[in-house]
Amino acid sequence: MRMYDLIEKKKLGKALTQQEIDCMVQGYTQGEIPDYQMSAFLMAVCFQGMNIEETTAMTLSMAHSGQMSDLSGIQGVKVDKHSTGGVGDKTTLIAAPMAAACGIPVAKMSGRGLGFTGGTVDKLESIPGYRTTLPKEEFFEIVNTIGISLIGQSGELAVADKKIYALRDVTATVDSLPLIASSIMSKKIAAGADAILLDVKTGSGAFMKTREDSIALAQTMVGIGEQAGRRTAALITDMDTPLGNTAGNALEVIEALDTLKGEGPKDLTELCIHLAGNMLYLAGKGTLEECLEKAEQSIRDGSAYQKFYQMVQRQGGDVSYLEDTHKFTIAPTYPVLAPKDGFIAAMQTEEIGAVAGMLGAGREKKGDAVDFSAGIRFVKKTGDFVHEGEPVAWLYTNRENSVTESTRRYLSALTISDQVPKKVPLIQGRVTAKGTEVY
Ligand code: URA
Repeated sequence: MRMYDLIEKKKLGKALTQQEIDCMVQGYTQGEIPDYQMSAFLMAVCFQGMNIEETTAMTLSMAHSGQMSDLSGIQGVKVDKHSTGGVGDKTTLIAAPMAAACGIPVAKMSGRGLGFTGGTVDKLESIPGYRTTLPKEEFFEIVNTIGISLIGQSGELAVADKKIYALRDVTATVDSLPLIASSIMSKKIAAGADAILLDVKTGSGAFMKTREDSIALAQTMVGIGEQAGRRTAALITDMDTPLGNTAGNALEVIEALDTLKGEGPKDLTELCIHLAGNMLYLAGKGTLEECLEKAEQSIRDGSAYQKFYQMVQRQGGDVSYLEDTHKFTIAPTYPVLAPKDGFIAAMQTEEIGAVAGMLGAGREKKGDAVDFSAGIRFVKKTGDFVHEGEPVAWLYTNRENSVTESTRRYLSALTISDQVPKKVPLIQGRVTAKGTEVY
């Protein structure tokens, strides 16, 4: 089988067989297929797409290209959660302990932030001492004793995806639905959970900018997960506006703690109840209504906060920071003032994520250092009224020389208008094996 023929076949819009896909993924992982041929294939996929059988074959090939995590040493139905990424998305820090507090084991491997999106591992590392790398035995032992452990992704999972994703990043081939779906699902399947809940973001701060594209991505990923024998569901959630009131690592940990104590922003709290509730539902803990109620109760009775506290303690984090969040180092702050009166009609959320990066909170490329103390506090979000001269946001940064440009970019990402904007629901849809509901 020649790679040339596979490229030609895809260029003509024909479907590849499972065997052809396996050969290609293995050949590329082993260095037998050069980058230039794989790049040509990926570009052909961008134009011609892949059907569900090809996408599933690509996913499974990439999943099996590295270690397949075996979580059978952990008792109970393990449910993983994955967000397609956005700005201010700290839901794992909240929904995972909520689910654990309701009795489902959470053994979760998370990633670092890249580009405009944040990552759970960076947020956790802003808690001094917290270990995001643990030996497998300790990871299992923590989940079996306290019910939850959040750690970083091992380099050995889905190695083909790692190599292909790096190539996509430099060949303008990231934004292809089957490539995104197979990339995400290969890692989730290799991570070993019995069930997977996906949070597919939609809007200006998401990979998928329209609701239709987000639903299509969710349907493809749910289809792959189910074909791979994992119970899978997806929520389609708004990312036209940043989630919660902060973006930036330490700021987001503080906000997550507030939310776990029942004092968080309304949008973040609501989404976490739905995420944790759906995780419980996938684990067979009752009807969706009962599961949502249990999730909410875990905040009210303090058990979700306790789970987070125990996890930080077990993983070496300094819990005095949780007890007194003023201990977190936060960078010097600068206001962004409204240039006129009006309603915040729109926020270009990806651009706002890029501003957080400029302030030091994110990384442009893998391996860049992150300043945990940097970020943004959103004072006014879409739908809010603002008076001229009032702060719409606060910027936190140690890069004083970036403040003027960051402020300019932040303001240019806002639309301030006389008209009250149309309200969009936070949760816009739900996709399961049974079908798609659009709200
Ligand atoms: N996240 C991934 O892991 N892969 C993609 O292709 C896009 C987002």
